[in-house]
Amino acid sequence: MKIKMKNSDSKSDPKKVKAKSTAASGLRELFVDQLKDLYWAEKEITKAMPKMIKNSTSEELAQALTNHLEETKVQVTRLEEVFASIGEKAVAKKCEAMAGLTKEGEEIMKGTQEGVVRDAGIISAGQKIEHYEMASYGTLASFARVLGENEAADLLEETLAEEKNADETLTQISDSINVEADEEEAETESQTVSQKK
Ligand SMILES: [Fe+2]
Ligand SMILES: [Fe+2]
Repeated sequence: MKIKMKNSDSKSDPKKVKAKSTAASGLRELFVDQLKDLYWAEKEITKAMPKMIKNSTSEELAQALTNHLEETKVQVTRLEEVFASIGEKAVAKKCEAMAGLTKEGEEIMKGTQEGVVRDAGIISAGQKIEHYEMASYGTLASFARVLGENEAADLLEETLAEEKNADETLTQISDSINVEADEEEAETESQTVSQKK
């Protein structure tokens, strides 16, 4: 099926993005570029997660994050397998999105008192990361399929399933933690009221 292109107006339109000299001209190049980005992102996550684990007070949350950290380390080597399967060298390219997401995670921790409220914040930060990963792996698996790189696609889908699973686990844990975090606030409020009396 041929895709109908919209009429392109003048090239001098300032809203039009000018491509760099190294810009991808085909899907394969775009695929490899984004793979490098994701490789950097996964490595970054392995550095950010220990801090999230240290700051979690819920045993269940700390355990879930620890399990996923171990899984993430395997995902890094799996991406190396993806590179190898398409005959490319494994190269990491800074992922601005993941740099931002992990930085935001730090901000959330700084912005919350240690305890269930920070736990709720850590879950929110973790789920934003998982969703970014899900979008990335889903897209890259689809690119790989179209490119006929089936081994790469299988590997990427394997990780995609793990990311979805990690996200679901966090949702389950948040069910009780969010409620507790809300009760925590109610307690603090009543303490403030009794102090004022
Ligand atoms: Fe991952
Ligand atoms: Fe993940």
